[in-house]
Amino acid sequence: MSIEQEIAKRKTFGIVSHPDAGKTTLTEKLLLFGGAIQTAGAVKSNKIKRSATSDFMEIERQRGISVATSVMAFEYRNLKINILDTPGHQDFAEDTFRTLTAVDSVIVVIDVAKGVEPQTEKLVKVCRMRKTPIIIFINKLDREGKDGTELLDEIEQKLGINVTPLSWPAGMGQLFKGVYNLYEERLVLFRAHGKQDAESETIEIKDLSEPRLNDLLGDRIAEELREEVEIMTEVYPAFTQEAYEAGDISPVFFGSAINNFGVKEMLDCFVEIAPPPLPRMAEEREVLPTEPKFTGFVFKIHANMDPKHRDRIAFLRICSGVFKRNTNYLHVRQAKKMKFSNPTSFMASKKTVIDDAYPGDVVGLYDSGNFKIGDSLTEGEVLHFQGIPSFSPEQFRYIDNANPMKAKQLAKGLDQLMDEGVAQMFIKEINNRKIIGTVGALQFEVIQYRLEHEYGASCTYEPVNLYKACWIECNDPVVMKEFLQRRKRDIARDKDGKLVFMAESAWILKTVQENFPKVKFHMTSEF
Ligand code: G4P
Repeated sequence: MSIEQEIAKRKTFGIVSHPDAGKTTLTEKLLLFGGAIQTAGAVKSNKIKRSATSDFMEIERQRGISVATSVMAFEYRNLKINILDTPGHQDFAEDTFRTLTAVDSVIVVIDVAKGVEPQTEKLVKVCRMRKTPIIIFINKLDREGKDGTELLDEIEQKLGINVTPLSWPAGMGQLFKGVYNLYEERLVLFRAHGKQDAESETIEIKDLSEPRLNDLLGDRIAEELREEVEIMTEVYPAFTQEAYEAGDISPVFFGSAINNFGVKEMLDCFVEIAPPPLPRMAEEREVLPTEPKFTGFVFKIHANMDPKHRDRIAFLRICSGVFKRNTNYLHVRQAKKMKFSNPTSFMASKKTVIDDAYPGDVVGLYDSGNFKIGDSLTEGEVLHFQGIPSFSPEQFRYIDNANPMKAKQLAKGLDQLMDEGVAQMFIKEINNRKIIGTVGALQFEVIQYRLEHEYGASCTYEPVNLYKACWIECNDPVVMKEFLQRRKRDIARDKDGKLVFMAESAWILKTVQENFPKVKFHMTSEF
């Protein structure tokens, strides 16, 4: 098979949702269709249950699961589909943002009763920034929920995207009868078997005025469906491939993941419309998947579960060419050649050593500390892939060494955990004190626990009153010098040595911006 054919065969996407909307259930159904798993319940949820007795023990357990579910590949209708897992827990939002740099499209799952929830809003915002094509799956139609039209309005308003329904529900909750597939003009009847793999009944209905619709759905629901579909087709724009690919319009499907209902309809549409591996922007130039030379970037690093072996798995997205086992590649940041004897691919929970991988694929590379998130591998060209920024953390604490005998271990542990992207570390210019910045409070516990268990180091935290970390730049060196001098107490450096202004409050940030109009303050490290 030629490289073009291999690329055309691949679809790499992520499923995003607020916790509990049904991401894990949907993933599992998709894998069942692809035959990648045989039984329901095979995909473990990687969410952190609120009821967990100890949050960080739970995280440890989840880390084991999430190595296995980081990438799940399956074959369907002669295509190779890669699902990249995204943590739902908001404290791990940054992990999810980074994973979204490695996908070519996303499916957003929304709970019909809860509508658009905060985590969905955040994640879709990131997708929109990158113009990632989005398909929406409205889940749990077997339960009472919001009215379809109301929900679509809410999606358009809160997520700021245009939608077009490609299926429409007939009834809901107790009265849920099925969905009408507008794309294929078929009515799919819902039978609540209570079984996971219920075969649904599909009936070709080209014209909704057919009287047998009343026999199938009952008079009231049949009438409602006719009315609503008529309104839908008038109100919403017709689906076009171009608008979807440009991220301008999102098709919407309705269903019930747990009942495996409406999932196949969405999957069949997904395989037709979802984009194949797309070009990636590097600082130097755009990289096309069809280029003969291999390139790729690391978007996620996972520490191994065994504390005795401190090796990690770096997840590499292939951007162009063919990645081959035991072949020398350039590690661009370290300017050194590396080869990999055990690159791993993931078929659901099975790991296999692979000989080659193509654009769109993700391979796991065993790593003893060489990689950082964002690193690129190439056949020799110096390329830095864009789109893996750090975002300003939300919570900050000073971190101190609690055991002077273990200073080295602490430094090494912190270094590696930061490379993994667990949190961000800033070093104050004035006194070299280290500040840890995270998205959620949970990471502070994770860091403390892992430093102790994996590196034998111990740390303490001290509160620090900070609002945001802003990356700064200024074209005028004189102004920059004055700024750095005047705000000496608030200046720090990030892991790459970039200058950061640590703002104590929104008010201070505003005042400083007014006083130094020539200095630019950025909320992300990539600008
Ligand atoms: P997540 O990964 O997005 O966090 O969600 P997950 O799939 O774990 O689903 C969250 C809960 O919603 C689960 O129930 C799941 O069974 C349920 N669910 C998923 N799809 C549907 C659906 O179509 N209809 C209904 N009624 N429920 C659905 P749980 O009680 O939290 O977990 P479990 O004990 O069933 O695993």
